[in-house]
Amino acid sequence: GSYDTGGYAHYLLKEIHEQPGAVERTLSGRLDERFSTAHLGGLNLDARELREIRRVKILGCGSAYYAGEMGAQLIEELARIPAHSEPASEFRYRNPVIEADTLYVAVSQSGETYDTLAAVQEIKRKGGRVLGVVNTVGSAIARECDGGIYLHAGPEISVASTKAFTSTVVAFALLALHFGRIHDLSPADGRRIVAALKALPEQIREILGQEREIEKLAAEYAESQGMMFIGRVRGYPVAREGAQKLKEISYVHAEAYPASELKHGPLALISPELPTVALVPDDELLDKNLTALGEIKARSGRVLAVAHRPIEAKLADHCVVVPKSEPELDPLLLNIPLQLLAYHAAVALGRDVDKPRNLAKSVTVE
Ligand code: AGP
Repeated sequence: GSYDTGGYAHYLLKEIHEQPGAVERTLSGRLDERFSTAHLGGLNLDARELREIRRVKILGCGSAYYAGEMGAQLIEELARIPAHSEPASEFRYRNPVIEADTLYVAVSQSGETYDTLAAVQEIKRKGGRVLGVVNTVGSAIARECDGGIYLHAGPEISVASTKAFTSTVVAFALLALHFGRIHDLSPADGRRIVAALKALPEQIREILGQEREIEKLAAEYAESQGMMFIGRVRGYPVAREGAQKLKEISYVHAEAYPASELKHGPLALISPELPTVALVPDDELLDKNLTALGEIKARSGRVLAVAHRPIEAKLADHCVVVPKSEPELDPLLLNIPLQLLAYHAAVALGRDVDKPRNLAKSVTVE
């Protein structure tokens, strides 16, 4: 069928608002409430083969790589298997050691990114096993992989990835749950994750309901020289993706740092001209994050916090409060306001939102 902006000003805005449905489709038919696990028919790996896996290496480019970082954390937390994400574009050039007991996972919305495809081919040439986490059915990467998970997020037209990013993280949560339940994850923890996954679409709708406030903040912060994005552990990939989204569509310079690294260098940049977006989930690192905000405020930095509860005015100038999921899934929700922030900053600055300069939707060349 035809796919137009459906009354939205841009594809990007439409795709941001399509996320509750995209997540529902990624989850559809895959949750098993009886055994508190996930079924993934396309993996082509049985439980015995999966149990032999000692490491997971995730490969993708740009936002797919950042979604892979969230995926790696989910796999480590739920399945307790060491997992890492790496840019596919780097991996393919460093003569990587390919191991039989490592599961390789290639992430791509388009399924046509040349660097990711070449990484998959290199792994396969050396006998490795690769799964694809791909949106486009029948794409080159999907065909090259041994099995995988389709996102079913629907077509993504805008160059900046939003709904495919979110659906990728959901797909990794399903993989981590499936993996976890054949390892050490308890039925109770499985139930906790299943329930949290089911709640995501409604929670995303709740965040999208705050668009008008975020639009106002975006117009204000878009005038800055640049922006710093900080997070810690689960919040760090959120910061990286948030910074990339702002850069690619608004052309405002943005840097992402782990909040813990501020004092090792970037604190020197902090001034009223370089505001900070801080991811402040209500988790075991909350106190440490609040301390970092204090350090920024003490250097007259401005802070926009994305948090689970209002942050006191002496630590943050503005705060977007998002609903809480389970800690492992919170990064996915914390990312949504950053999409709206980037979108509205780009609109405020009069940018070509759906087709930013110098970028292509899928990079099919080296
Ligand atoms: C996302 O906003 C970017 N435009 C870009 O980083 C993209 O995610 C990357 O090029 C990978 O694309 P793919 O998922 O189609 O492989």
